[in-house]
Amino acid sequence: MFKKSPIAALAAASLLLIAGGCSATNAGKSEAAKPAAVAAAPVVAAPVAAPAAAAKVDYTKMSAKDLAEYLIFEAEGYDLKQATQEGTNGRARLVQDEIQKACSLMKGQELDDKSREKVMALATASIKYPEGGIKLGDWKKGRELAWSGYGYRTAHNPDDHEKGTPGGNCYNCHQIATDRTGGDIGPSLTGYGKNRGAGEDMLKYTYDVIYNPHAYFACTNMPRMGASGVLSQKQIADVMAYLFDPESPVNK
Ligand code: HEC
Repeated sequence: MFKKSPIAALAAASLLLIAGGCSATNAGKSEAAKPAAVAAAPVVAAPVAAPAAAAKVDYTKMSAKDLAEYLIFEAEGYDLKQATQEGTNGRARLVQDEIQKACSLMKGQELDDKSREKVMALATASIKYPEGGIKLGDWKKGRELAWSGYGYRTAHNPDDHEKGTPGGNCYNCHQIATDRTGGDIGPSLTGYGKNRGAGEDMLKYTYDVIYNPHAYFACTNMPRMGASGVLSQKQIADVMAYLFDPESPVNK
């Protein structure tokens, strides 16, 4: 049940909404432009006060993909120039890598076997292991990281990484210990170490999943915490201690 991911589609849909909404504001002043942009269908170019470039565009002749790309990259409805914490800009964040492209499927579509293997191989190749092997860190630090959704947010109130450490946001999707309510986009991880043991294979599997879950679940919703640089190897060791340490509330 966790394999199908509506997130990419949702993100695209909300970008469409954002782009549609804002381009109406940019396009202008005229009340007549608003209902056309707000209504989901039919999508027709607003005849009044549209920007020069938009005026030449016939939305009805575009594929869904072309329309999405037009609204995001050309209609100036989204702040593509906004600086991001990783030193790029909003536009760079919207460029999909190979895994994201392969996994951007329309509703009802399934990844074919060849693409699935390719995605998993790319993800496996991205994983870098700590020198000296995978060891558990400090579960208390791991708990903080698992609880925190701070970091990398842009828009109106960008996260300042000088003022706060980016976290893993694990609770947003997982129930983990029972002292805090978690989300259910991912499976419950309550009692993780107690139930599964802390053998070498289990440690490697867990490290891999946190570093780049596409290695096991091709088009998962879970972010690539290590591969995308959100968590360092040391931080992953701390989060793992939170999952495995017998003293951690996860296993109480
Ligand atoms: C955006 C949602 C999301 C976030 C955030 C997230 N995960 Fe996940 N996680 C998932 C989903 C969904 C799965 C199930 C894999 C699948 O089928 O896609 C999963 C699977 C896992 C698994 C494997 C579970 C198993 O039963 O073998 C582990 C371990 C895990 N996540 C740990 C974490 C940790 C630790 C964090 C924080 C650093 C985290 N996840 C953040 C969505 C998320």
